[in-house]
Amino acid sequence: MPPVPEPWSTAARELLPALRSWRKSFHEEPELSTQEHLTQAKVTRALTELGIPYRAYDGFTGVVGLIGDGRPGPVVALRADMDGLPVTEETGLPFRSRFPGRMHACGHDVHMTSLLGAAALLSRRANALGGPVKLLFQPAEEEGSVGGALPLIERGCLERPHVAFVVGQHVDPSLPLGRIGWRVGPFMAAADFFRIVVRGRGGHAATPHQGPDAIVIASEIVVGLQALVSRVRNPFDPVVVSVGSVHGGTRDNILPEKVVLEGTVRTMRPETRDLMERSLRRRVRAIAASLGATVRIEYRRGYPSLVNDPDATRTVADALRVEFGRANVVETEHALMGAEDFARYLERVPGTFLRLGVGRAGHPASLHSATFAPDERALVVGSATLAAAAVGLQRAGRARAAG
Ligand code: NI
Repeated sequence: MPPVPEPWSTAARELLPALRSWRKSFHEEPELSTQEHLTQAKVTRALTELGIPYRAYDGFTGVVGLIGDGRPGPVVALRADMDGLPVTEETGLPFRSRFPGRMHACGHDVHMTSLLGAAALLSRRANALGGPVKLLFQPAEEEGSVGGALPLIERGCLERPHVAFVVGQHVDPSLPLGRIGWRVGPFMAAADFFRIVVRGRGGHAATPHQGPDAIVIASEIVVGLQALVSRVRNPFDPVVVSVGSVHGGTRDNILPEKVVLEGTVRTMRPETRDLMERSLRRRVRAIAASLGATVRIEYRRGYPSLVNDPDATRTVADALRVEFGRANVVETEHALMGAEDFARYLERVPGTFLRLGVGRAGHPASLHSATFAPDERALVVGSATLAAAAVGLQRAGRARAAG
């Protein structure tokens, strides 16, 4: 019997001073999607200090590190996103954002730090690795349409060496600190976006009969879209349609010539995604035509739905139970209607996306809020999670290849 190695968490706790300092540095200087230049430099500096070879790119802020190059066995890629959000921080933390209007309000500072932590742990025990480990630092997750995963994939991050499994994680304030959430199958939604321009005839509000009233027709459309959710899709298949902005008009007694509606459609299945686009276009045109207005519909597809591979997810959950104990590794109750760029990797390579608990009593701040301040002990859990997941997948992959 080989000696039982100490838990990754024990080694990760010893790393805490380094984790804190990386996290502080990321958190103080958040950068928006595709602008992560300082962040990229910090990542490459940290990898250099750890003695880990990496590839950085000109004109693109991603970084790909590689541990254990040439080792036999499956390659596992671990991914962290890098961008902050256009939010002015109100946490009062000593290391709060130095940039007004920019904040790591989605915890991507925690994700990057955890990936560096895992890299430090794995490179120290590189001889124990069951294959190479790639580190994907990916920009522009929050951008929402092209994102940063596709450009990184186009630059070859899943090849040379070819990646067999991919793992990512996201902080989750609804899970208590110390817990990790997993789920098999569809886990996060596809997010598409629409813009509808309704054109009627402008005029005096006292003579609405003289032309189609864009405001009344736009209102019919807003209400009519909800009937798509309740009457077009299967009730067991989750769908969200939300109109997030309505613009039209200047004052109380003038009917505007046009109204612009903008919103989002969230779906879990590709068939439902197509169905909702078709149905939305048809319904909007029908409502407008029946009331004599013209419409223009722009429909833009964002990230696809995120689907966790059943085998890889169960293998990772098993490895995490050994690491953290049964009670701390929980199947999440339901899928989420948020979207995540990580879906692009999972379209190409099996793997899993985990939720990293950062919730604490009396601290209800949600993701994207100006007061979001995850407990830094999550850095230890996040680092150990990625390290344990990578080694667990490699072990299972080698056992399968040998069996
Ligand atoms: Ni995020």
